[in-house]
Amino acid sequence: MKALILAGGKGTRLRPITHTSAKQLVPIANKPILFYGLESIAAAGITDIGVIVGDTRTEIRRALGDGSRWGINITYIEQEAPLGLAHAVKIARPFIGDDDFIMYLGDNLIKDDLSLLVKEFTTHKPQAQILLAHVPHPENFGVATLRGADVVRLEEKPAHPESDLALVGIYMFDKAIFEAVENIKPSARNELEITDAIQYLIDKNFAVRARIVGGWWKDTGKLEDILEANSLVLETLTGAIAGSVDELSCLDGKVIVEKGARIINSSLRGPVIIGSNTTIINSYIGPFTSIYHSVTIENSEIEHSIVLENSSIKDVKRIEDSLIGQNVVLLRTQKKPAAYRIMAGDSSRVEII
Ligand code: G1P
Repeated sequence: MKALILAGGKGTRLRPITHTSAKQLVPIANKPILFYGLESIAAAGITDIGVIVGDTRTEIRRALGDGSRWGINITYIEQEAPLGLAHAVKIARPFIGDDDFIMYLGDNLIKDDLSLLVKEFTTHKPQAQILLAHVPHPENFGVATLRGADVVRLEEKPAHPESDLALVGIYMFDKAIFEAVENIKPSARNELEITDAIQYLIDKNFAVRARIVGGWWKDTGKLEDILEANSLVLETLTGAIAGSVDELSCLDGKVIVEKGARIINSSLRGPVIIGSNTTIINSYIGPFTSIYHSVTIENSEIEHSIVLENSSIKDVKRIEDSLIGQNVVLLRTQKKPAAYRIMAGDSSRVEII
């Protein structure tokens, strides 16, 4: 069995972060989203992994390398334009050959163990195995209609969903999917949809099995979802202190302080992770916050947020629900006239009080 991870796409809903980085590399609890999928695929015993890359190929390749650090073999597959998930399957044919494979959308995060899914697929040998999750807004996803345990219909982002069951971005296929992707037409958004390819299998009476996810699932395409995924993952971690914490500081709940990090006269209320070589001085770091490596936070309060590497925050009263990029400087000015002075990247969003 092989795996195909999709790590292309433009990540428009995460601008400006995605102007300079791939959406799949945003860290959740200080680990790039993509690594979670890769690690669970490796843990399911799959070592031959194709990674579909597009505009962000350089960053993705830099982050994953040849896969040897996970004991896997990575083959990069270039997608010249984001023409859809089924198009990605089409161009992966030479890599997949006639093998069965798991297809994993690189911005999806799931609590469940993938080996259960793989086991179900290898036991029942359907042509496709899909994963479904109950969601409050199914219109944003592929939506499935079931009759008993059978999948009778799949529709991509329907205006009037027939159920609240969204298609999770993790699928298993045998080689029948290659016939399907050759026979479907581009959708209204001009993409070859994997949802339509699986519907083709249903129409041709191939076996399509569905399983409803046990734990949580997140498609991390937008800021709110990234923050929620960060909270969910932080909750699963165990506290550990490798850096230094002075005696004036107070740590509550699950707190991870990575190597080389320094906590000085500060209060940290978990779940929280502080990255290596980050310094927190006279500050409060509240629950569900991930501070990446080499960050400085001084005389400030922050909660339910993510801060990326090399940024610094000084004398800022309170930050919540925020994703702060790399090398960002956020400070209270002493300059006169007193005014907001902002240099924000394209598509940034700044809320002030
Ligand atoms: C894609 C699929 C959709 C699925 C979703 C899961 O949507 O087309 O069926 O529910 O991934 O993350 P996209 O992210 O391309 O909008």
